[in-house]
Amino acid sequence: MKTTNLFLILILLSTTLFAENGSELWLRKKATSNVNINCSKSSATIQIALNELKNGWQGEDGATIELKIVKDKQLKADGFRLNKNSIQATTDAGLLYGAYEMLRRQHTGQEIRNEVINSDYNLRLLNHWDNLNGSIERGYAGRSIFWHGTDSLEVSENDLKKWKEYARANASVGINGTVLNNVNASPSVLTTPVLERAKAVADVLRPYGIKTYLAVNFASPEVIGGLETADPLDPEVKAWWNDKVKEIYALIPDFGGFLVKANSEGQPGPQNFGRTHADGANMMAEALQPYNGIVMWRAFVYNPSDEDRAKQAYNEFMPLDGQFHENVIIQVKNGPIDFQPREPFSPLFGAMKHTPVMPELQITMEYLGQSVHLVFLATMWEEFLKSETWQEGAGSTVARCTDGSIFNQKHSAIAGVANIGLDDNWCGHDFAQANWYAFGRQAWNHSLSSAQIAEEWIKLTFGPDSFNDKEITPEFEWNLAFVEPVKNMMLESREATVNYMMPLGLHHIFSAHAHYGPGPWWAPPGMRKDWTPPYYHQADSLGIGFDRTAAGSNAISQYHEPLATQLGDVNMCPESLLLWFHHLPWDYQMKNGRSLWDEMCYRYDAGVKQVRTFQQLWDKTERFVDPERFAAVQHKLTEQSMNALEWKDACLLYFQQFSKLPIPYELERPMHNLDELLKRDKVRVRRSQ
Ligand code: GCU
Repeated sequence: MKTTNLFLILILLSTTLFAENGSELWLRKKATSNVNINCSKSSATIQIALNELKNGWQGEDGATIELKIVKDKQLKADGFRLNKNSIQATTDAGLLYGAYEMLRRQHTGQEIRNEVINSDYNLRLLNHWDNLNGSIERGYAGRSIFWHGTDSLEVSENDLKKWKEYARANASVGINGTVLNNVNASPSVLTTPVLERAKAVADVLRPYGIKTYLAVNFASPEVIGGLETADPLDPEVKAWWNDKVKEIYALIPDFGGFLVKANSEGQPGPQNFGRTHADGANMMAEALQPYNGIVMWRAFVYNPSDEDRAKQAYNEFMPLDGQFHENVIIQVKNGPIDFQPREPFSPLFGAMKHTPVMPELQITMEYLGQSVHLVFLATMWEEFLKSETWQEGAGSTVARCTDGSIFNQKHSAIAGVANIGLDDNWCGHDFAQANWYAFGRQAWNHSLSSAQIAEEWIKLTFGPDSFNDKEITPEFEWNLAFVEPVKNMMLESREATVNYMMPLGLHHIFSAHAHYGPGPWWAPPGMRKDWTPPYYHQADSLGIGFDRTAAGSNAISQYHEPLATQLGDVNMCPESLLLWFHHLPWDYQMKNGRSLWDEMCYRYDAGVKQVRTFQQLWDKTERFVDPERFAAVQHKLTEQSMNALEWKDACLLYFQQFSKLPIPYELERPMHNLDELLKRDKVRVRRSQ
């Protein structure tokens, strides 16, 4: 072989072997010095902490640190006391979290001083909407890491490796629970062979401090148990669940519990038997109680009726407040509709005072451009968690109403619908990893700012090892020309998406089924109204928006004063939620003096421009990023930019049919025509059916 050929082959090999694929997430920093660690206790969890510290140590070379289990009233179960030369905790998991925190600070240049660090929520869970056949509902990053079909339940070496990497990533950000399957749960989840595979997962997750949970189908006793009913008050049904729970705990002694979607979007539930949500949840809670298991019962319920969909969960669950067993937590989506780019918080937060309520966030971005758009969700979650409910006076934020600091509750919890799949980079988009990271960090500490989280993530995920240009003087240039601008882009990205998709409180105007792309027009004859965009935007010749004031659906009445009055008064309602709560004329005058129509045009236009700016900014970072991730993100930003333009044109051209007003002449003209966009959407809808 000629030397040149050999040389070429070597180059090819090295690029394929060392090509950056994003699989290391935010855990790519290696040790740059040695550390001695003293620890008198040993366990699988502590061993992980020791290995992580050794393999990632970037502190003083030759330092000696001590890991110690202590009795300390200031420390909660997962909490730890961090010091320059020691980590103390009351549990092994606490030591592990302390180790990850110490490394995070070293790797991002944050100070380490004597500090007690506790978690705000006790239970910090991922919900995987993974089906047993390996597909993922609303998954955009490949197939399931847990399931490959009920005929391939055997556990492979690859499975074990993947689950371990997954567990490590979660533990590093404090996630301590995971629901392995879709809330639209197959009854087969509770069959013995499937449970055995769940046990194998649980065995891998356990040393990382992560408990395993399952989503269950309410009709399981009928479908797989051969009973004639699943009535929660039926003794045979109760016995069936008791036996099933016993079987699970024999396999998984620290099993966490069940997540249940009942009487929601066609799923079976206690109402099929004339019983309430409380009857159903309590029956399961009783079965789990002896083992300290919990039930997370979802409040995502709405029926086709004349009642505003945004009001239905509150109407259904408020009368049941206080009727649930103490090991039931009501899991409530952040907003009253469904993971929209912007929603007000669900009025159930703070209102249910005698039942623990946990927020459910969606990491997977079903409605925010999926794994194509760059959207950093921490700002959205920060806005939500810091929302003032007024339920117990000033300072009753959603965060404080759910973390146990206001209401006396045995459990406090938060869940995020995962964006993880078998794709090399786990999340489809390299920047979507930041949302997994952010969820864990905010679940641990809901006061962390989005800016801090973004900065940490950037510094951990990129950096000198991945510089394309080896001439760069790291600290100075990197911070100025990479970390800062990329952070600002991330912080702006969610508002940009709101602008080009649905500004000013517009919501649910997506293309049907796949929820990707605009579809404000979609309303086939005979379709359930509350599944069609016109139900939500209510555009007509007079104006646009959903009237939820006292004159309309009166959804505002579900909020506590003074918020209810504020939202109901068009002059006090935040403009970001204006059309969520009000139906307003096209010429309604905004605070800046523009008409509502003009302001809508400006917002859509601003969103498109923002993404164009992100493209420019990213192109300038080329020197700082490995070629693979640089190109991948560049490619996605181009697509996002084209999508943003489509959103703008589709919505403005469609709404213009009602407003009959021109798009302000100083703005860019549409690049599409409505007929073409309608055709495009038809194809999209057909494909997604
Ligand atoms: C959304 C989503 C569904 C999901 C449902 C849920 O409606 O589109 O796929 O099943 O939420 O949260 O239960």
